[in-house]
Amino acid sequence: MNLIAEKPLAAVIISSLMSLAFAGPVYTAAPANPCAPKAGNPCAAKDPCAARNPHAVGTRIDARRIRRPTGYRPYQGDKTALVTAGERLFNDGELSTNTMSCDTCHQGGSTFQPSFAKPYPHWVAMAAERAGLKQIHLDEMVQLCLVAPMASKPLPWDSMELAALVAYVGEVQKGFKPRTGGMANPCAPRNPCAAKNPCAARNPGAAPRR
Ligand code: HEC
Repeated sequence: MNLIAEKPLAAVIISSLMSLAFAGPVYTAAPANPCAPKAGNPCAAKDPCAARNPHAVGTRIDARRIRRPTGYRPYQGDKTALVTAGERLFNDGELSTNTMSCDTCHQGGSTFQPSFAKPYPHWVAMAAERAGLKQIHLDEMVQLCLVAPMASKPLPWDSMELAALVAYVGEVQKGFKPRTGGMANPCAPRNPCAAKNPCAARNPGAAPRR
């Protein structure tokens, strides 16, 4: 009896194993983490800062693109009007090729390092690292941020736009107080993903609230 009973059982086991092998494994484990790999991090590909770390290695820029030209004569105009125009430009994403405006990084004075508190020209880490400059003027700094983090072109040296940005940033500088602490993350203030992490509030493993 045993022999007879065992045969079909063995056959059942073997056929089950075969069907498993062909049909693929059957998962009976805990439900998959809805926020894990398949959905992927929806913000990963969209991080506007990832590729544009102004301190990234290997992205040196030619200092001649941002140095004052010989015979440089900045645009002259009414100071108040320039400051007003400069503030508008400071918030204008059209100045860059990556939709960033100056304000994206410098909102509320963020990302400015202690060097910004000193009169120009002075040493700026990014200017030294990226363009090999020991000192930089404010207008050159505007051009550097346009060329480097904003992946754009320098403004014409005699343009109203450059004079306006210089006038406005000059006003910002007057009220600037360096913060203590390390280098600020230029992307931190406006990390578009920070508030929107679709998984943050739904961690299925998190302890229930009481
Ligand atoms: C993607 C971020 C980013 C954007 C956009 C950006 N900057 Fe900057 N900017 C920086 C970083 C980072 C520093 C700090 C550099 C350092 O201290 O090494 C800086 C520093 C500066 C400084 C101060 C340098 C000093 O004297 O210490 C000025 C002025 C400045 N930016 C102007 C601008 C202007 C004007 C724009 C828009 C045309 C702009 N930035 C856009 C990242 C950015």
